Amino acid sequence: MIGILGATGAVGRTAARRIAAYGLGPLRIGGRNLTKAADLASTLPAPAHAVRVDLNDPAGLAAFCAGCRIVVSCAGPTYQVLDTVARAAFAAGADYVDIGGELAAKDALTGDGVVGDRTAVFSAGVMPGLSGLLPRLLAKGRPPRRLDVYVGGAAVFTPLSAVDALLTRGPRFGEPMAAWRDGRVAPGTLAPLHQVRLPGFPVPVHAWPYLTTEAQTLATDTGAGEVRSYNVFVSNRLPEALAAAWAEAPDARPETLAPYAETVVRASLRDNADFGAFYVMLFTARPRPGAPPGPTRVLLTAVDSYALSGVVMALATRAVLSGAVPPGVHLAAEVLDPDATAAALREDALVTGLTIE
Ligand SMILES: NC(=O)c1ccc[n+]([C@@H]2O[C@H](COP(=O)([O-])OP(=O)(O)OC[C@H]3O[C@@H](n4cnc5c(N)ncnc54)[C@H](OP(=O)(O)O)[C@@H]3O)[C@@H](O)[C@H]2O)c1
Repeated sequence: MIGILGATGAVGRTAARRIAAYGLGPLRIGGRNLTKAADLASTLPAPAHAVRVDLNDPAGLAAFCAGCRIVVSCAGPTYQVLDTVARAAFAAGADYVDIGGELAAKDALTGDGVVGDRTAVFSAGVMPGLSGLLPRLLAKGRPPRRLDVYVGGAAVFTPLSAVDALLTRGPRFGEPMAAWRDGRVAPGTLAPLHQVRLPGFPVPVHAWPYLTTEAQTLATDTGAGEVRSYNVFVSNRLPEALAAAWAEAPDARPETLAPYAETVVRASLRDNADFGAFYVMLFTARPRPGAPPGPTRVLLTAVDSYALSGVVMALATRAVLSGAVPPGVHLAAEVLDPDATAAALREDALVTGLTIE
């Protein structure tokens, strides 16, 4: 049995459809709205039944996880989910995959023996997730002189994603305007790029430097001399909405930031009205002198970033079930196989293009 929590959401719908289509096993579809869960279950190409469950109800969550080989959580916001569902999955003897979590969930599970011989993969979406995984295709056996990461486009934020975007602040997430240089974070070295034309992006864009902790690990793991990582927007509406919220609620606590989610969603709706929906992940490498030949650019395009995250969740679930991921708590970018993931993405109808050249 595979338990999918949050399967009716923007990410979860695609995750559930792909997990069903991969033939990984019967599914238990969970959420607070049983009608929505049952409607989804009835459309899946695998045996599936719906269960009403609230992740904040420990008994209900334990019952949801009981009998599962793996529990997959596409629920949010991530600051509320954290390690809650993972702990319930481990208690039921199940492995675990989560769309969010990042270092906070990993930290919360480290050191108290709760993981045992189980496997958990967090942050198995597009960003974090693919954003830290696909650039590794450019660095196999040849540490680049410089790696650039440009990820973004135009997508309507769901309220949960808006809350998570607002909370993506502080040293456990990343550092604005910083680059990675010569083995360390170099603060304040980059500036936003306005109205730039970037390969794969259909319109001129605004690229805001944000050196995520994922990009820092990428730099360390690949031995890149320099890493520049940008969040890409089609207008300045979203960066301005986020900056205004952070200025008005500098304590960065969930309770004070959550009310600003509506402003962020509105900004994304206006972008969407002007530009439609598209999502681009562009990674470029500049080789070191004398490096062996190899690819220098990965370009992935899609229409719907949430659906693309759902595909990544399903691929992570398949990888864990196949035994490709060792026991322990991992972040998807660090543990999934970049080649196998790219090959599967290239076959997926939700990926409109993936070139490695
Ligand atoms: N890593 C990435 O690249 C990436 C990309 C996109 C999104 N995300 C993250 O993924 C999470 C989900 O985003 P989304 O846009 O898919 O949200 P969404 O469309 O609102 O879906 C949320 C899902 O979780 C369920 N849910 C919410 N609260 C729950 C609870 N207390 N107990 C059980 N189920 C609950 C909802 O169903 P019910 O309402 O019926 O309970 C729904 O199925 C967010 O944290 C977001 O930030 C990450």
